[in-house]
Amino acid sequence: MNILLLGSGGRECAIAWKISQSKRLQKLYIAPGNAGTAQWGSNINIAADDFDAIGAFAKENHIDMVIVGPEDPLVKGIYDYFANNKDLQHIPVIGPSKQGAQLEGSKEFAKTFMSRHNIPTAQYRSFTKGNLDEGYAFLETLKAPYVLKADGLAAGKGVLILSTLKEAKEELKTMVNGMFGNASSTVVIEEFLSGIECSVFVLTDGQHYKILPVAKDYKRVGDGDTGLNTGGMGAVSPVPFANETFMEKVEERIVKPTIKGLSEEKIDYKGFIFLGLMNVEGDPYVIEYNVRMGDPETEVVMPRIESDLVELLDGVATETLDQKELCIDHRYATTVMLVSGGYPGHYEKGKRIEQLEKVDKSLTFHAGTSLCADGSITTSGGRVLALTSYGETMEKALELSYQSAEIVQFEGKYYRHDIGRDLLIEL
Ligand code: AMP
Ligand code: GLY
Repeated sequence: MNILLLGSGGRECAIAWKISQSKRLQKLYIAPGNAGTAQWGSNINIAADDFDAIGAFAKENHIDMVIVGPEDPLVKGIYDYFANNKDLQHIPVIGPSKQGAQLEGSKEFAKTFMSRHNIPTAQYRSFTKGNLDEGYAFLETLKAPYVLKADGLAAGKGVLILSTLKEAKEELKTMVNGMFGNASSTVVIEEFLSGIECSVFVLTDGQHYKILPVAKDYKRVGDGDTGLNTGGMGAVSPVPFANETFMEKVEERIVKPTIKGLSEEKIDYKGFIFLGLMNVEGDPYVIEYNVRMGDPETEVVMPRIESDLVELLDGVATETLDQKELCIDHRYATTVMLVSGGYPGHYEKGKRIEQLEKVDKSLTFHAGTSLCADGSITTSGGRVLALTSYGETMEKALELSYQSAEIVQFEGKYYRHDIGRDLLIEL
């Protein structure tokens, strides 16, 4: 099969690595990719949301499947673009339709979907400029802390958690008045759920599903979960508290009603579903749906999938996922993200990355890197490299990821030193 993968981050590097091992693969292209994906396929200089260019490329290069990494093209409707074009409709797109992508593209859509299908989530109401006073009154009925969410996509920054009622009211007003542009003209206010989070990934062909390895990511920039939110500083899989009992609840209360709900509502969904869950005293609640794989969770999930990913995705495309086998590596996988100094605030790019070739005990998934004409690799983003290792225990895997983090050098290199530590305490 000829495959076109869209995206350019650590997630896409890990997916490209996994696809490159498939017996079914003929040629892999990544649009636009990064210095890491170039090891596993051919990067092509097309933006992941330039549908016309992607369509033309797919036609010319006899692409048999398009795999969508990030949410943007999905929310903008790449699935429908292919499905509605007679020259392209024979090419399956792995990812939901535009309507299905609303599970991530609109918090309100996601909340009403969950309420229609009795899927456990925080209680909520949504407000606009027109009923701001009702919003204030609703806040008064809740206990601190207060959770305010921009309805639309806000590059991961649309959620505010506020400790006082006064701040919550002020922020609500600022949000509906365009703090995140149109994305926050509707604001979802919800009950605060107290617990520990994990990410569950589901692959579905619209009828059948497979639950992929569960992971936990670390979003804050500083050790001890302090400082600003980032795209993700590290991840581990599996997650000790997501044991069999918890995962049975996830499957019965969340996965099954989600797939059934999509099918009943005739929403085309053939792709990954990412359930951001809160474990509240042993019971799972949905914090958010995403319509793609997580980053950096993918960098620990892909290495734990033993089965041929292309075979599984072919099952998604042909609605025969139930006939495919999913085998999981029993070992732990951990990843530590090396980032540019200053990230997620201001940081410099173009720093030469050295000693990458000396890393032999971890997989190196590139996130923000560029390949220079002289063959050297430089930093080109905030998150630079994910160093993924396996271990019979989480400690062993983390030890290797941290050894590798010491080896790789670039000016300003920074990483968190406590990935997985909260889970080790729990063990
Ligand atoms: P989201 O963008 O929806 O993933 O929200 C970002 C982060 O805010 C989540 O990863 C949680 O840590 C936190 N969060 C969101 N909703 C809630 C909630 N209802 N209760 C507690 N924390 C929340
Ligand atoms: N790791 C969280 C995300 O990909 O949104």
